[in-house]
Amino acid sequence: MLKLCVLVSGGGTNLQAIIDNIANGIIPDTEIVGVLSNNRKAFALERAKNHGIPAVCVSPKDYPTRDLFYQAFMETVDRIDPDLIVLAGFLVAIPAPMVQKYQRRIINIHPSLIPSFCGVGYYGLRVHQAALERGVKITGATVHFVDEGTDTGEILMQKAVEVQDKDTPETLQKRVMEEAEWKILPQVIAMAANGTLKIGERT
Ligand code: GRF
Repeated sequence: MLKLCVLVSGGGTNLQAIIDNIANGIIPDTEIVGVLSNNRKAFALERAKNHGIPAVCVSPKDYPTRDLFYQAFMETVDRIDPDLIVLAGFLVAIPAPMVQKYQRRIINIHPSLIPSFCGVGYYGLRVHQAALERGVKITGATVHFVDEGTDTGEILMQKAVEVQDKDTPETLQKRVMEEAEWKILPQVIAMAANGTLKIGERT
């Protein structure tokens, strides 16, 4: 049984896609053992609770320094004790000690075809805004391992989505989610669950 910890900051539609694909068997032998958010108001926390999944918020606002926040955050993840950590719209950079501890055990979904429109400052609608400004005709989403950089880890899966003439950042974001993100994130987790994707050993 693959034990997942899903980290979220917002609406949680990618979390929902994982929950649904575990329920319908497309992701085999997998359990979400914890959902963790940095944002108390994240609707993703409600989604988790509605499905009986333990959900917790560790907010930087509750700690006097960034270091103390990171310490509490890492302790919480360690207590959840997952095989695989999934960043599903998580807007906090993962601290280097955690990347080192969970080598090849943290994956992220990014809403563009890396290496386009990625790195520091490219998150949420900004990614789609930048794609439209550049005038690309194809964009998409990428699932990758998380390393010490921003969106620099090994690419695991990508899916292309066509840009339409009348697209706004909002319509493009929605189509990239529907056509790419909600498909490839569950697919990569399924590969980790069935052993097709080799993930890091527990240390
Ligand atoms: C997605 O576009 C994801 O790629 C990005 O943040 C968004 C999260 O959406 N990193 P949701 O919270 O899963 O609905």
